[in-house]
Amino acid sequence: MKHDQWISQTIEFVRETLAGAEGGHDWFHIERVWKTTQTIAAQEPVDRTVAELAALLHDIADAKFHGGNDEVGPAKAGAFLASIDVPVHIAAQVVQIIRDISFKGGRHEVQHRTPELDVVQDADRLDAIGAIGIARAFSFGGYKQRALYDPSVPPDMHMDAATYRKSTAPTINHFYEKLLLLKDRMNTVSGRKMAEQRHRFMEQYLGQFYAEWEGQR
Ligand code: ADP
Ligand code: NI
Repeated sequence: MKHDQWISQTIEFVRETLAGAEGGHDWFHIERVWKTTQTIAAQEPVDRTVAELAALLHDIADAKFHGGNDEVGPAKAGAFLASIDVPVHIAAQVVQIIRDISFKGGRHEVQHRTPELDVVQDADRLDAIGAIGIARAFSFGGYKQRALYDPSVPPDMHMDAATYRKSTAPTINHFYEKLLLLKDRMNTVSGRKMAEQRHRFMEQYLGQFYAEWEGQR
């Protein structure tokens, strides 16, 4: 089957390209997003091939690591898909999803809302919350040498994109500034259900965190 062949060729390409990528965006992030995409796609009316290829290629060149240039990823993905003879009508949809998927280009700003974008974006957001999301946040915070928590620094709920990137706030603040907001930004019914469960887990985690902080448990 063409689908299986394209998927395994893409996996090979992504694994090679992301060898040595930092923890939050390594191959295992891609693999989780791909698996979650399959789980959600099984319950939504989508083209599985478009959704799975987009999941596998969505972080192929993060703009953060390319001087803010957000066309590198889509271009790289497009060139790769052409090289393995994926038809243009499929490749074009995949490239458009990669363009539209980032958090900052949230739902309201995207012009080309499609069911496949909805699914992959949900899968990517799900990887930022729950047990994995907590691990990724502290890993990112450690990489940036941020404090775990500082009760004297309140979360900033009204950051613009530039302030958000430059923020040096403790990692716990990131829960309020982003992670706890994600469940209300889910696109699909099944994605939202998964998000609600992961959300409750984060709330429980924060409750335990503050109790331990105060030496109460
Ligand atoms: P994504 O790849 O989901 O668009 P980012 O590149 O912004 O997200 O972040 C990658 C991972 O690092 C995510 O799990 C995210 O929650 C986490 N992260 C991003 N910014 C911060 C921060 N200021 N503090 C802690 N974790 C962060
Ligand atoms: Ni991602």
